[in-house]
Amino acid sequence: TNTHLTLAIETSCDETSAAVVKNGRQILSNIISSQIQLHQKYGGVVPEIASRKHIENVIPVIDQALAEAKITLADINTIGVTYGPGLVGALLVGVAAAKALAFASNIPLVGVNHLEGHIFANFLAHTDLEPPFIALVVSGGHTSLIHLRNYDEFILLGQTRDDAAGEAFDKIARIMKFPYPGGPYIDQAAKSGNPDAIAFPRALRGARGEENYEFSFSGLKSAVLNYLNNAAQRGATVNISDVAASFQAAVVEVLVNKTMHAVQHSGVRQVVLAGGVAANSALRDELGKRAAERGTTLFYPPPVLCTDNAAMIACRAYYQYLGGDISDLNLNGVPGLRL
Ligand code: KG4
Ligand code: ZN
Repeated sequence: TNTHLTLAIETSCDETSAAVVKNGRQILSNIISSQIQLHQKYGGVVPEIASRKHIENVIPVIDQALAEAKITLADINTIGVTYGPGLVGALLVGVAAAKALAFASNIPLVGVNHLEGHIFANFLAHTDLEPPFIALVVSGGHTSLIHLRNYDEFILLGQTRDDAAGEAFDKIARIMKFPYPGGPYIDQAAKSGNPDAIAFPRALRGARGEENYEFSFSGLKSAVLNYLNNAAQRGATVNISDVAASFQAAVVEVLVNKTMHAVQHSGVRQVVLAGGVAANSALRDELGKRAAERGTTLFYPPPVLCTDNAAMIACRAYYQYLGGDISDLNLNGVPGLRL
């Protein structure tokens, strides 16, 4: 039988990751070296620190990925690497490493779009999943609604005009004094709160008849900030769980409405969640419920494949390789790369 092994490298933000994936779908190793603790004291990712840490980590992480897969570089058929979007200095470390290995060992190189990688994490988690489907990519940097027609055809339906969904979670969490990144803490706090306690705004809400797939979360962020400031000025006690639950409900309602709108309009019967915020329990529950009402199946990856990892990049690289989408050694980091 033919075995195709893909080695992939991901360094777009604050995780240095390398993975080996067999035949596009089977993870042999997925090493993730997180820098979160380093950045936590600054309340967010410091690009310069991220780049330096990637330089230290990238080769050991690649070695570990090969060792855990019990193979050597000579066994690799394709090298995939994230070349954007992301922090330019961070992207360059992965791209330079991938190019050096590809050149030295004469292995085909495939540059991967990070967002496409997030979507493809679903193919690793659900080995029978095939396009077409509607994908909602919600991460710290992105909020995009995409119609994936087949493995190589991505139709961008809409995206955020300002903050990404994860960014909104992190900023609210920071105001509420949770550690960075705050999304999981809001998720947890919301479990014991009342989502109807405070009526936060639903921007571009996607009500009936309104067919735009754009998002906006900066107004919601200001509304939560104002609510907390007003309470502090009045000396009123704030129920943090209620604030978390009400904020989360506002985000989830808009995300779910627009996603289901896209599902109805496209006529596809599958919907997938991708990106770090896909780990959010309220989003999973609500979208799952609404999809089921429409006879549509919801897919999402396990938490480790929702946040940044190289296995998803390897999966995407494999399908690009099959489609003949090979990069040359001029590949460069593109911080603002689009779909
Ligand atoms: O995909 P990712 O690792 O990085 C980017 O490419 O941006 O996503 C990280 C984001 C952070 O904003 C984090 O707070 C958020 O995902 N996140 C969550 C949850 N888990 C991670 N947001 C809400 N609820 C969660 N359970
Ligand atoms: Zn990401």
